[in-house]
Amino acid sequence: MNQKINPNNMPRHIGVIMDGNGRWAQKRGMMRTSGHRHAMNAVKTAISYCSQIGIEVLTLYAFSTENWKRPVEEVSVLMNLIVEFLLKETPEMKANNVVLRFIGDLSRVPEKSIKAIDYSVNEMKNNSGLLVNIALNYGGRNEIVHAVKSICQKVGEGDLSIDQINEQTFAEYLYTVGEPDPDLIIRSGGETRLSNFLTWQSAYSELYFTDVFWPDFGEDEFDNAILYFQAKDRRYGGIG
Ligand code: IPE
Ligand code: IPE
Ligand code: MG
Repeated sequence: MNQKINPNNMPRHIGVIMDGNGRWAQKRGMMRTSGHRHAMNAVKTAISYCSQIGIEVLTLYAFSTENWKRPVEEVSVLMNLIVEFLLKETPEMKANNVVLRFIGDLSRVPEKSIKAIDYSVNEMKNNSGLLVNIALNYGGRNEIVHAVKSICQKVGEGDLSIDQINEQTFAEYLYTVGEPDPDLIIRSGGETRLSNFLTWQSAYSELYFTDVFWPDFGEDEFDNAILYFQAKDRRYGGIG
């Protein structure tokens, strides 16, 4: 870890929009999908580094509700890579005390991926270290609609009254129930948008954008993002 980082002011929760795999590959005259393959090393580094430096929650945006618009071959490579990653990396993540959670609408995710997800999540269920959320078929708006439907159902069944609905209770119906909001959101790949990532939870997140493509994103880039975060005065509407 960079010496300038203050260990007493670490972000509790870091969200990452892992963008730029396709352009990383195209720049090298390679297929977009080989960018996704190389991205797996960066995912591995992100998990082990965040675990090592004591981050509590790491949310990785793996596939958005909009990514179905891509060619079927690319979607299928992405889904297969997730299975491959889970089967290969679960023992090491388990040994590193990682807890794994999937956030998103998994009903549209292929059966083969669900099997690998269940296996990995179950393997790590008794761990107590870094919580890694993999956002898969995740969309912030989809998550909010899903929460609203669950709340309506509870109200309809008489298990919840309208007066009980507030920001805290609402958050209990999100996929991230029980987790702190992301303090820092990192987006690689040069774009400066959130692309439907953690829409509710990002209300007061610090945003760090970098041109570095995700397959090149390593420990030094995490350090740069954390230093950027630590230089911020988080006023939350107050006067600091
Ligand atoms: C991010 O990289 C990975 C996913 C969205 C699944 P991209 O595939 O979006 O890469 P670019 O943005 O086209 O370079
Ligand atoms: C956001 O990247 C989604 C993921 C990283 C999984 P996209 O490449 O899909 O976002 P846009 O299309 O540039 O907004
Ligand atoms: Mg992209």
